[in-house]
Amino acid sequence: MTSARQSRSLNAQNRTTDRLRLDIFTLFPEWFTWFKGQRHVVNSVENGSEIRLFNYRDTTHLSNRQVDDTPYGGGPGMVLRVDVVDSALKKVYGDERKAMLEKQRIVVLTPSGRKLDEGVVRELAGLERITLLCARYEGFDERVREFLSNDAISIGNYVLSGGELASMVVADSVIRKLPGSLGDEESCVEESFSEALSGAPEYPHYTRPAEYSGWQVPDVLLSGDHSRIRKWRMKRSNELAQ
Ligand code: 6GU
Repeated sequence: MTSARQSRSLNAQNRTTDRLRLDIFTLFPEWFTWFKGQRHVVNSVENGSEIRLFNYRDTTHLSNRQVDDTPYGGGPGMVLRVDVVDSALKKVYGDERKAMLEKQRIVVLTPSGRKLDEGVVRELAGLERITLLCARYEGFDERVREFLSNDAISIGNYVLSGGELASMVVADSVIRKLPGSLGDEESCVEESFSEALSGAPEYPHYTRPAEYSGWQVPDVLLSGDHSRIRKWRMKRSNELAQ
């Protein structure tokens, strides 16, 4: 097993800092209260990461806190307005906003974005600053993607009712890569899709009891023979990759 210290240096390889500044724009910031209470998220914040939430409704110039409108050309649903998203970004980033499009990552969550996978997660985990833009309803006015963001991510080929859950998936997978977010006992070095396992899923785990209802834990894991255990784990991991 790889030690926690080794896992730190491996994790930190492509980072200039162990901290992440994550900004999430949404119509439902309160949904993230649960997310922010997760142990590894709390750990990363204690290590200096920052997670901020912004509600488009707080900065909209429209009356009645309106943020959306009917689509040009007709069709069902409502579309999040480009001017509303721009106002929110302007309020938070001010003049920095245009430079951020060149230097920082501003991601729209949309089913038509590039698919999240371990490679994308690693790429994002190497950044110091990430902004996630969530939409509800039929999504964003396309100009948000074109002029106000520089990345678009989907978490799979199915439609969610909004980007919030997707943004939590992105944030969770990125935050657990940050050094120190997982406890010393845990490590993301030898987990599914890691380099240590050549990109394969992780081998299966077992714990007490060694036998339950006639269901046995594989003998090799009880043998105490670390080299055999290691070989068995690599073999099982490889099999799962087929
Ligand atoms: Cl990022 N957003 C929505 N609305 N649905 C999705 C998605 C994102 N990724 C997969 N389905």
